[in-house]
Amino acid sequence: MAAFLLGLLLFVTQSPPVPSRPTHPGDVPPSPAPVQPDPFALNDSSPSAHPNGTLQQLPAVIIIGVRKGGTRALIEMLSLHSAVAAAQNEVHFFDWESHFQRGLPWYLSQMPFSLPEQTTVEKTPAYFTSAKVPERVWRMNPDVKLLLILRDPTERVLSDYTQVYYNRLQKHKRLQPIESVLLKDGEINLDYRALNRSLYHLHMENWLRYFPLDSIHVVDGDQLIRDPLPEMKQVERFLELEPQINASNFYFNKTKGFYCLRDHGRERCLHDSKGRAHPLVDPSILQKLFRYFHEPNRKFFELVGRTFNWS
Ligand SMILES: *[C@@H]1O[C@H](CO)[C@@H](O)[C@H](O)[C@H]1NC(C)=O
Ligand SMILES: *[C@@H]1O[C@H](CO)[C@@H](O)[C@H](O)[C@H]1NC(C)=O
Ligand SMILES: *[C@@H]1O[C@H](CO)[C@@H](O)[C@H](O)[C@H]1NC(C)=O
Ligand SMILES: *[C@@H]1O[C@H](CO)[C@@H](O)[C@H](O)[C@H]1NC(C)=O
Ligand SMILES: *[C@@H]1O[C@H](CO)[C@@H](O)[C@H](O)[C@H]1NC(C)=O
Repeated sequence: MAAFLLGLLLFVTQSPPVPSRPTHPGDVPPSPAPVQPDPFALNDSSPSAHPNGTLQQLPAVIIIGVRKGGTRALIEMLSLHSAVAAAQNEVHFFDWESHFQRGLPWYLSQMPFSLPEQTTVEKTPAYFTSAKVPERVWRMNPDVKLLLILRDPTERVLSDYTQVYYNRLQKHKRLQPIESVLLKDGEINLDYRALNRSLYHLHMENWLRYFPLDSIHVVDGDQLIRDPLPEMKQVERFLELEPQINASNFYFNKTKGFYCLRDHGRERCLHDSKGRAHPLVDPSILQKLFRYFHEPNRKFFELVGRTFNWS
């Protein structure tokens, strides 16, 4: 709690300058503005500690995205580490207004009970592509560590489309053939939201306005699926966790064609929807997509000073 209060103090002293009220020479100091609910206010009566020695802690690590990038796999694999306490659900605190207005006490109440020395992690893939989120996260904790897991942007669009397709199928909504959303007048449809979510450089620029590059670790989602251990060792290093995750934590399930996890002898595989087949897409449309992403990808590589093996 002490560290936490200290964090709050720091927050107060580091607040970015609010757009100032107009001042005129000779003005008396302005009287305090009417009290507005401050989403960042936390106080001692915010419940967090439990008599059994565990407590709820704000996340020091957030998996910010990307949607369909492998965030579930990443948080499950991270949970293999004994020093990590992961939130079960996607919290959507910083991106959903109705949640954000409830303030940090609510956010804290969504966190798992953990030991004081454990690190709390939450994942909400929509954070990465929401323009208002970086500042809000920064105001909570400018030293938070961010994990971003990305896949080939073309693959990601298809995967995004597939998820929406199955959601609509379940809800008996009208299904849209992929060509009809991807193309407009024969060209790539820039208004397609799933396409925009794959323009990683645009979103990354928003985050880099608030966080230095060395606060953001990019996980290669394609690699994580093919061979999880090396990616997870890098994540451990970035988070300065004691090296713990090892080869015996993973085994290949031939039926699934994926790695599954072994946690203290318990075996578990990711949910089946994680490996759904993509729609067949006309190769000429795929070509258009690959070509379209070439330049955005290059810009992203430049931003992060690293390249990825994307088509
Ligand atoms: C302290 O936070 C709790 C929520 O955890 C809230 O109900 C209470 O009104 C707050 N008290 C003050 C004095 O702000
Ligand atoms: C401690 O209490 C919390 C809150 O009730 C509970 O979720 C957690 O499982 C308990 N932990 C232990 C080790 O008893
Ligand atoms: C794509 O997303 C970025 C970042 O949120 C936004 O600035 C831009 O307007 C979007 N472009 C389109 C065509 O929707
Ligand atoms: C891997 O980690 C487990 C505990 O998570 C440990 O029991 C085992 O000895 C480790 N294996 C190797 C080869 O280090
Ligand atoms: C491997 O995957 C298949 C198909 O999903 C599943 O039925 C089976 O239980 C898995 N086996 C192991 C050892 O994880």
